[in-house]
Amino acid sequence: MNSKSFFVKSYGCQMNVYDSEKITSILENHGMTEKKEINNADVVVFNTCNIRDKAAHKVYSDIGRITKFSQSKTIAVVGCVAQAENSEMFNKNNNIDIVLGSQSYHLLPQMIKDNEKYKEKLINTDFIINEKFDYINEEKKSKGVSSFITIQEGCDKFCSFCVVPFTRGPEYSRHFSDIKREAELVAKNGASEIVLLGQNVNAYNYYHQGKQYSLSYLINLISEIDEVKRIRYTTSHPINMTNELIKLHSQNKKLMPFLHLPVQSGSDQILKKMNRKYNSYDYRKIIEKLKQANPNIEISSDFIIGYPGETEKDFNETMKLVEEIKFTQSYSFIYSERPGTKAASEKDEVSLNIKKERLSILQDKLKDIQFKYNNSFCNKNVKVLVENQSASNPKYFFGRTPYMQSVYLESQLVLIGEEMDVKITSCNHKSLYGNA
Ligand code: SAH
Ligand code: SF4
Ligand code: F3S
Repeated sequence: MNSKSFFVKSYGCQMNVYDSEKITSILENHGMTEKKEINNADVVVFNTCNIRDKAAHKVYSDIGRITKFSQSKTIAVVGCVAQAENSEMFNKNNNIDIVLGSQSYHLLPQMIKDNEKYKEKLINTDFIINEKFDYINEEKKSKGVSSFITIQEGCDKFCSFCVVPFTRGPEYSRHFSDIKREAELVAKNGASEIVLLGQNVNAYNYYHQGKQYSLSYLINLISEIDEVKRIRYTTSHPINMTNELIKLHSQNKKLMPFLHLPVQSGSDQILKKMNRKYNSYDYRKIIEKLKQANPNIEISSDFIIGYPGETEKDFNETMKLVEEIKFTQSYSFIYSERPGTKAASEKDEVSLNIKKERLSILQDKLKDIQFKYNNSFCNKNVKVLVENQSASNPKYFFGRTPYMQSVYLESQLVLIGEEMDVKITSCNHKSLYGNA
């Protein structure tokens, strides 16, 4: 047992947030107390993200800021930057006490103790994924109406621009019974929505007694839990969008009609260079099949602008795809060169100004599409799963539509965790506003 207090900061994707919840549970189970304020904590855990240069750098400025005011804190850096940069982190900032990779969070309590006892820096960046999942199965999970559950981790795809295969290791799927148990637990604690997580969530594949269990099997298994009203999965890779999974969108009523399916670019030349393993025709075909299975389904995507060698023509092909598919939500970023990836050695002649200009054209278009889509909900009723209540004014609530739109609503009678009919009164490109 350890009587110290701690604070965890998340920098990355949903899996990074999920891991932070697990780290919190692990430390609490060892007697430590979570603080809501970084300044009040004895131990600060930075759960880092390495996806783009900016995210990776942020941790160093944050450590600089916190150690300027207090030298007595224990600084632990965990997650994807820790995995990628390893002991180099100590050279970059001498105030770091612990570096722990993305697969070994269960070792953190002992490392904190040892660091205090022996006053020496500690590091572990081994890939021991099975052990991590064994440990995760024992931990309790936090409460919440919408709850993440990691079902798959890692990536074997090696897109030329991406660090994830290096920071998360090879693809690995958890046993479906462990996942079901975790889903039952969070459902008992109040989760009405389960979001299944994986770097390639639709590559989920578990072999058990000579049989193969897919994501579709898992989704059907989880829908047996009565308290679970909504199921989502993210992030999917287009090449793992099987006909079985597409068909499930017409069969399973708890599976939400919304899919995050990153395309990255609309240009075949760029997709090939990126090693995405599909072309723009394949992507369009998948969307067509999804819409056939469920005409209501809406799609969101990620885009990378300014990949090395991206021409005006390539960019216009991305714009054409955006016009066509009408993505209702999206993330778009300028390509960021990552050390150790294949793309880092490619010649890049496009200026940053041109990339910024392209990004802004794309984002304006995406916003416009999103606004028009959101606006089509005005003066209509939509089913909203109510997730929480405003702390400052109990009349206001937050929830989501089946299509993942954020809804801010005013009501005297809504219930947290319930699906409510909400009349939409106004919107912007990000959110809907209404009352129930
Ligand atoms: N496995 C998912 C994505 C995981 S990474 C997929 O294949 O779609 C999340 C997003 O970060 C990616 O979709 C991509 O758009 C973005 N990203 C990854 N590496 C990047 C880089 N080097 N520069 C800019 N964006 C990047
Ligand atoms: Fe990265 Fe590609 Fe793997 Fe997605 S599929 S995590 S973009 S390497
Ligand atoms: Fe970032 Fe690691 Fe997630 S690099 S996006 S925290 S998998």
